Amino acid sequence: MGRVEGSIKISPLLITLSHISDLRPRISSIRAEGKSVALVPTMGFLHEGHLSLIRKAKDECDIVIVSIFVNPTQFAPHEDLEKYPRDISGDSERASGAGCDMLFIPSITEMYPDGFSSTVSVNGLSSVLEGEFRPTHFQGVTTVVLKLINIVQPTVAYFGQKDAQQSVVIKKMVNDLNVPVTIVIVPTMREQDGLAMSSRNVYLDPVQRKDAVVLSRSLDLAKSRIVEGVRDPQKIIAEMKELILSTGPATIDYVEIVDADLLKKKDTLIRGESVLIPLAVRFGSTRLIDNIIVTV
Ligand code: PAF
Repeated sequence: MGRVEGSIKISPLLITLSHISDLRPRISSIRAEGKSVALVPTMGFLHEGHLSLIRKAKDECDIVIVSIFVNPTQFAPHEDLEKYPRDISGDSERASGAGCDMLFIPSITEMYPDGFSSTVSVNGLSSVLEGEFRPTHFQGVTTVVLKLINIVQPTVAYFGQKDAQQSVVIKKMVNDLNVPVTIVIVPTMREQDGLAMSSRNVYLDPVQRKDAVVLSRSLDLAKSRIVEGVRDPQKIIAEMKELILSTGPATIDYVEIVDADLLKKKDTLIRGESVLIPLAVRFGSTRLIDNIIVTV
């Protein structure tokens, strides 16, 4: 039987902490023993994508800490903060099964006490692509990620390639601010039919779920066109959009081909370079993102 916190059952195998003051001394003694510490920051509702991060972290580090915090500052007022899926007891079972040693589940007031007034922004990279549609999103992400890194002081922190722009922004923040942590990006996990795993997939109705497979198909199409020798990004983007819109009702926020590090739109594709092809598409009120990196 798991430990019960409020009405939530927590796996007995896991140390679960919600206060920074409890976490800090434990981590200090782990580090004092010369052990490496991995941080896997999440917003919970863990799926195979998260578990692949935890497994990789366990392969590479001695102790794995998974944080679960649905960070309000990265949601705009009209977004899905209130209905964002939550399942702490399921998460604790899954995280423990994948090799997590410690869960950190802070409250909102633990992370943002009264009077909290600091933010971290990565200018430029945060205002393109997702940033055009979610202007305050990345400031929320970078602020909470830097806080989590400062709280846990991990050797390595793991993020998913599915949030490609988030990975680029976090790497830039860590580099610009000399944060002493290694950032590892883990490949996107996909369902059998190609749909990228995401906590938001549960919002899709059965028809939208079927239609959403077109996102990975459109990325495969782009890759094939590049392999065939097409060098005009606009031509590839137009074909991808046509495919997405021909499948069913969908609203495209963006489909772009950009430099993989600087996120600048490409005018032409140059042999040998790596490009990122990110997209965001809405099926009803559910907004999904996906991407692929292609070496031309
Ligand atoms: O990718 C996520 O789940 C979140 O953006 C993160 C990194 C946990 C920050 O809240």
